[in-house]
Amino acid sequence: MPDQLSSASLPQPAETIDADPATWKQALVALATDCAACQACGLAQGRKHVVVSRGNPGASLLLIGEAPGAQEDAQGRPFVGRAGQLLDRMLESVGLDSERDAYICNVIKCRPPDNRRPTATEIAACRPFLLRQIALVDPRLILLVGATALEGVLGIKGGITRLRGQWRAGEGEGLAGRVLMPILHPSYLLRNPSREQGSPKWHTWQDLKEVKRRLEEG
Ligand code: URA
Ligand code: URA
Repeated sequence: MPDQLSSASLPQPAETIDADPATWKQALVALATDCAACQACGLAQGRKHVVVSRGNPGASLLLIGEAPGAQEDAQGRPFVGRAGQLLDRMLESVGLDSERDAYICNVIKCRPPDNRRPTATEIAACRPFLLRQIALVDPRLILLVGATALEGVLGIKGGITRLRGQWRAGEGEGLAGRVLMPILHPSYLLRNPSREQGSPKWHTWQDLKEVKRRLEEG
């Protein structure tokens, strides 16, 4: 079946961020409502929940993962399965609470069948929602969690093991002026559990310490 978008059901572009608190809260509610109603791609058919976000929309740190898995689809919250629990523990190890200090979402909001990687069409269909989230949270720092987020947000294909831990300047719609860092995906770390110096997990820990340091810089 061709992977086609229905333009009539495409999500709307980002709202402005210089809103008063009541308007901001309304916009967050509207985002959730619009996501719940979204039929912009074929993933709408198979979902139990649209997985929009968890954490604090007022946080300075925004994390963007790949896509919901089975647990996330069942609960309607991102990063709540094994990978998410590891992510929480790693954030905690540098003094960051995932619910208080971060807002967490994914490049796409609905679970792909059999946890396959999202297609470019699905990522494009969901991008207006992601841009709305970035605009509303207006974070100081954005973490791109894993290769799909790196590619889906910045268009950089491959190279995450080389590019992880490096601050990058965002460009283009919704990203200009933003500061982003790719980090390794916790699913990858679950498959590579060594904490030895130089291991993927060790590198991720260094990266998160750098994130904490930069947040504390004020
Ligand atoms: N992996 C992701 O990238 N996101 C989730 O929400 C869960 C697992
Ligand atoms: N390969 C991936 O796809 N993601 C990672 O985070 C690391 C290696």
